[in-house]
Amino acid sequence: MTRIRKAVFPVAGLGTRFLPATKAVPKEMLTIVDRPVIQHVVDEARAAGIEHFIFVTGRNKHVIEDHFDIQYELDRTLSERGKKKEQQLLAEILPAAGTASFTRQQAPLGLGHAVWCARDIVGDEPFALLLPDMLHKGETPCLKDMIDAHAKLGGNHVAVAPVPEEETHQYGIVGVKDRKAKVSEITEMVEKPKAGTAPSNLHISGRYILQPTIFELLAKQEKGAGGEIQLTDAMVALAASETFFAVRFDGEIYDTGSKLGFLAANVAYALSDPALKDPFRAEAKKLLG
Ligand code: G1P
Repeated sequence: MTRIRKAVFPVAGLGTRFLPATKAVPKEMLTIVDRPVIQHVVDEARAAGIEHFIFVTGRNKHVIEDHFDIQYELDRTLSERGKKKEQQLLAEILPAAGTASFTRQQAPLGLGHAVWCARDIVGDEPFALLLPDMLHKGETPCLKDMIDAHAKLGGNHVAVAPVPEEETHQYGIVGVKDRKAKVSEITEMVEKPKAGTAPSNLHISGRYILQPTIFELLAKQEKGAGGEIQLTDAMVALAASETFFAVRFDGEIYDTGSKLGFLAANVAYALSDPALKDPFRAEAKKLLG
């Protein structure tokens, strides 16, 4: 089975829900405790064995590029001041030379279009796709479970998790053969189903392993829900000839694209930070009464 070496991160979104914070700062650079959202997701990919990181960016996103590059002056100053721990922190997040690629989505035409923009860098091999808004916090990295499932089964994989019935219209939703299994074949996929029409309450949570044939379908650039080129529509078309598996994620998922999800993620990550958790709990208790 072809190894999954490359991961795509679509980071071109405007972040209008977080204005004015996102006027000059990309939403992916907002911090969850002490690292930007995008770094949490890149860390997940790295922990799952990804070797090449492909960012689909847009205008005003250059600080993402800077974040994953060396900061020479800072490094030298830290070294002169003997700040070894801080230097080490920066060294850990630096991708090896030549293993981060950046391409721009020139117009906000939808997730499917953003993924299609990465086609030349991905080339002819299966790849991972991680939507940075969605933080997956669990024992093992969500993408690792998916890569393991792909190594056994091949095909295409999407991470899924249950959502309340009244939220199914906000997501891509799948129907599966075996609801109880950790990995199950997908029988149906639909992007943002109208209330009462969802095939289940399992939502596509923003982690994918896709075969490169998806690019041929995305190239047709047909518009779907919300007038956007939808990835889910291309996946539905691909499912006519290839198998799709749902890999259930059992940890916690935070949609940091919403204010509530963003705040909840900060609380959850602070509570699992060894140095912060006790003082933070005490502080939160005071605030909550
Ligand atoms: C996208 C996908 C959707 C998925 C969701 C997860 O939607 O199209 O299938 O469930 O991400 O966050 P968006 O959030 O871009 O509307």
